Amino acid sequence: MTKSWKGLILAGGTGSRLYPLTHAVNKHLLPVFDKPMIYYPLTTLMLGGIRDFVIVSSPEALPQIKALLGDGERWGLTFTYVAQDKPGGIAEGFRVAANELAGHNVALILGDNIFYGDGLSKRIQEAAKQGAGATIFGYEVADPSSFGVVELAADGTALSLEEKPKKPKSKWAVPGIYFYDQDVVDVAWNLKPSRRGELEITDVNRVYLERGALHVKTIGRGVAWLDGGTHADLFEAGQFIKVVEERTGLKVACPEEIAFRMGFIDHDGLAELVDDSPKTEYQKYLKDLLNRSR
Ligand code: DAU
Repeated sequence: MTKSWKGLILAGGTGSRLYPLTHAVNKHLLPVFDKPMIYYPLTTLMLGGIRDFVIVSSPEALPQIKALLGDGERWGLTFTYVAQDKPGGIAEGFRVAANELAGHNVALILGDNIFYGDGLSKRIQEAAKQGAGATIFGYEVADPSSFGVVELAADGTALSLEEKPKKPKSKWAVPGIYFYDQDVVDVAWNLKPSRRGELEITDVNRVYLERGALHVKTIGRGVAWLDGGTHADLFEAGQFIKVVEERTGLKVACPEEIAFRMGFIDHDGLAELVDDSPKTEYQKYLKDLLNRSR
């Protein structure tokens, strides 16, 4: 079992629930307060120590996403881009990126999932230490029917998994962050499309459950989990980030800062990023970080 992780960020799909915002712009480039949405899932995996990423999106959106993120070098990261011709489901991401993922453990994050809270980095770092099998999370929500849902036994082991059940067996929704061993690409190749015609991530997880190799960790209420799926979700996520940032004076999901704090770039690397940024409040934030660390 290799210990090397690839982060897989899914940034495709139609974004149809956000029409007309997504008519000409990919959902993951839309603003969540002061940053593009994709910064949030990217930095979540960076906090887990992951530096090597495969980014999957539609052929139309990939050039825009590349223009934003580049090759990753300035943040001490590597980005490889792969096109998904049609949104055939989340698990199709493993198939289209099969060459890039071969021989690696895979940390998958959905490009519209936003996580924020105390202890989050530790939880992700722990998940990235897993051996064989898969690690998913459970997060208690008021209405789980629009998510993957995991039913848990008293000892915390998974009993069943369902995708968007009409009558959920528990309150535990499965957020869009998942850790798999290198078998996951084979698992994805062996899947059949669901009734709605998609390769479902819940079916991948069910294969691991049936093998007795699915670990579920619950995330408590100290962590916020949001997504930008609808207009209201996007608006609320932006407001949430605004409140947290203005109260603390610290940015959430700033890749430059996280690259520096995680040691992916050094002092000189951060100084270069400051020099290369336009004179904005964002640059001032990075400059203050640099000055404080001297
Ligand atoms: O947010 C967590 C939920 O995400 C999980 O609880 C569900 O089990 C999982 O199926 C998923 O449900 P959604 O209905 O939210 O998935 P959605 O189709 O909105 O896609 C989620 C992200 O994945 C979104 O950022 C777009 C991207 N995506 C989606 C599909 C279907 C792709 O890149 N390619 C695709 O083919």
